[in-house]
Amino acid sequence: MKTTTLSLMLFAGTALAALPAQAAGELNLICSADVVICEQMKGDFEKAHSDIKVNMVRLSSGETYAKVRAEARNPKTDIWWAGTGDPHLQAASENLTLEYKSPKLDELNDWAKKQAESAGYKTVGVYAGALGWGYNTEIFKSKGFKEPLCWADLLAPELKGEIQIANPNSSGTAYTALASLVQIMGEDPAFDYLKKLNDNISQYTKSGSAPVKAAARGETALGIVFVHDAVAQTAEGFPVKSITPCEGTGYEIGSMSIIKGARNLDNAKIWYDWALTAEVQSRMKDAKSFQLPSNKNAEIPKEAPRFEDIKLIDYDFATYGEPAKRKALLERWDREVGAAAN
Ligand code: G6P
Repeated sequence: MKTTTLSLMLFAGTALAALPAQAAGELNLICSADVVICEQMKGDFEKAHSDIKVNMVRLSSGETYAKVRAEARNPKTDIWWAGTGDPHLQAASENLTLEYKSPKLDELNDWAKKQAESAGYKTVGVYAGALGWGYNTEIFKSKGFKEPLCWADLLAPELKGEIQIANPNSSGTAYTALASLVQIMGEDPAFDYLKKLNDNISQYTKSGSAPVKAAARGETALGIVFVHDAVAQTAEGFPVKSITPCEGTGYEIGSMSIIKGARNLDNAKIWYDWALTAEVQSRMKDAKSFQLPSNKNAEIPKEAPRFEDIKLIDYDFATYGEPAKRKALLERWDREVGAAAN
């Protein structure tokens, strides 16, 4: 019985090995950007590689990290495209993602290459974007609220229950906000700030861009998000104004990683090289995805908030993408802020 199974396995192995090494079949993708750009990327890729079917799910950055970690022994995902860099770095440092040096690396901006180098090429930068907020100008006008230009202004008592931000456990956007405030203020003052801000928060959403979508629809007055997500709502015709805070702000290096143990590794590499091209990145704006592209030759959308115009902090990706640091900050957030919100 044993011999039969073994011979069958050997036969199957030989038969598989005899197949031509052309890439075809499937690609299991987790997309951590906005669903519209996720759909566009899937569609464009399937057009360019009609022999590869993409199975795509949209999950926030922190959720994806948790899923990839939970499935480490039996990975169901081949490639993780987009989402903030910190959880990608955490996955890299926990050996959950695979080292890969794309031939496209030389075409990338230094910040994207640095992201790859610092993680032993287990991730790479695909775009960048700064943190800020978008507010509904009609609500602000009708309620007579003062325009909030600084982090400090978000604590105004008149804004009680008027602000949304995501939960930093699920959302990379909200983790970027948490880590940015810690870097701007120091850890204890940042948590004091977040506890006070909690009085003004009506909801901690799962996805990072949901707060400004809610502001656009008039369901809340203000959403703390990446500013390109606020600009996207303005471009959709909603009465949303974007702000980057006067004290300074953090930013993301949206990243991409191949999952270690990917079943469709050849296809994952095809996606990886493809997603780093100038052509693909130049098309992101068609989905109102206004980040700064990582390929130097990609077109920068005219709507994209420019880093030269924003007071940016020197965000320490190595420290805040480190597993122990991220875990400690999230646990403290749960204890001191999340618990108070329930
Ligand atoms: C939006 C932004 C992306 C960002 C992503 C993070 O889609 O446009 O630039 O990477 O949010 O999503 P998350 O839900 O993890 O905050």
